[in-house]
Amino acid sequence: MINVAVLGYGTVGSGVVEVLTTNSDSIAKRAGDTINIKYVLDLRDFPGEPIEKVLVHDFDTIINDDEIDIVIEAMGGTEPAYTFAKASLERGKSYCTSNKELVAKYGPELLELAKEKGKNFLFEASVGGGIPIIRPLNQSLTADEIMEITGILNGTTNFILTKMSKEGLTFDEVLKEAQELGYAERNPAADVEGYDACRKIAILSSLAYGKHVDYEEIYTEGITKITDTDFKYGEKLGLTIKLFGKSKRVGDKFYAMVAPFMISSDNPLYSVNDVLNGILVKGNVIGDVMFYGAGAGKLPTASAVVADVVDAAKHIKTNIMTLWSSKKLNLDDIKNSEKRFFVRLKGDAKERETELKEIFGDIKVITLDDVKGEFGVITPVMSEAKYEEAASKASGIITRIRVESV
Ligand code: HSE
Repeated sequence: MINVAVLGYGTVGSGVVEVLTTNSDSIAKRAGDTINIKYVLDLRDFPGEPIEKVLVHDFDTIINDDEIDIVIEAMGGTEPAYTFAKASLERGKSYCTSNKELVAKYGPELLELAKEKGKNFLFEASVGGGIPIIRPLNQSLTADEIMEITGILNGTTNFILTKMSKEGLTFDEVLKEAQELGYAERNPAADVEGYDACRKIAILSSLAYGKHVDYEEIYTEGITKITDTDFKYGEKLGLTIKLFGKSKRVGDKFYAMVAPFMISSDNPLYSVNDVLNGILVKGNVIGDVMFYGAGAGKLPTASAVVADVVDAAKHIKTNIMTLWSSKKLNLDDIKNSEKRFFVRLKGDAKERETELKEIFGDIKVITLDDVKGEFGVITPVMSEAKYEEAASKASGIITRIRVESV
């Protein structure tokens, strides 16, 4: 019997208990042993609930119990998660977590500690909710040099953008719904400002390129400035808007960013809607591979956590090698990266076209019948630096959104 402790009985933690209980037989077959939930740690009481019998309020009970083989953490935040993860691994317990803040910040250190102890630090659920993406990067796409990762990595913002696009709802109405459905972070800024997607692309990029990508160095822009008018222009152009976490290898340079992008229906990520996530990985040998599924929510996330528990149980005495060096990957300034830009400007399109062609080059102009006093343009492909230089010469810019060319 493998004894486990679950830290945190919130959305994901309670999902983990539910999955381990509901699928106990098939999980035991796959793990090669029964998984027994010996403790659940939470500050709260749950009177009348079955977990009452195993509920503890003190981490010391867990860490001092030599029968605990695997600690499962679903609390979020770097503290006390980091202290708990370190203590667990030091005491020879494997650690499975859905906590992307912890993984993005302390991933290499905790992986190193797990290796030293012959145990495992596993974090499949930290990116893409229920989608297997960490294990494929570690164990399946190992013949390739990963050239590029583009992901819709945040379920909440994808849910919001999809509803804004399809139902014309306001940002605030949809955010509330996402929170009620248990998709959103406790602090909604983590979702809507792109911080959550930033940590996730940092984790994926670190695994893909083998060196530590510091999330604090990734340019990050959220979706708070996206409006229904942007979607109207998008509709006319056959484009929709998605929040992307992206990283790319260009020669010996690496770029990473999080930002809303306008994308066309040719893009495989175009139809990734609602709370679903999609991750497009480009390898130099395999070409494009796409991963798709539920990116947030209780049971999908719990499914990924429990898959890690099964893996930890199967490798109870061996460390699973993960290539993520603590050596930092130097990211190049995104100002040098190139793309098209969609720009909304005040004024009359006909009157300003010549002036704007002189500033931006060969632009495409878009006007909307029901939106007066402004128009849109799509620029040619240019570097972010060139765009900024040009934009500083153009008056009346309302907004700009990057355009992903396929
Ligand atoms: N708030 C996150 C999301 C949860 O919406 O994707 C899953 O990491």
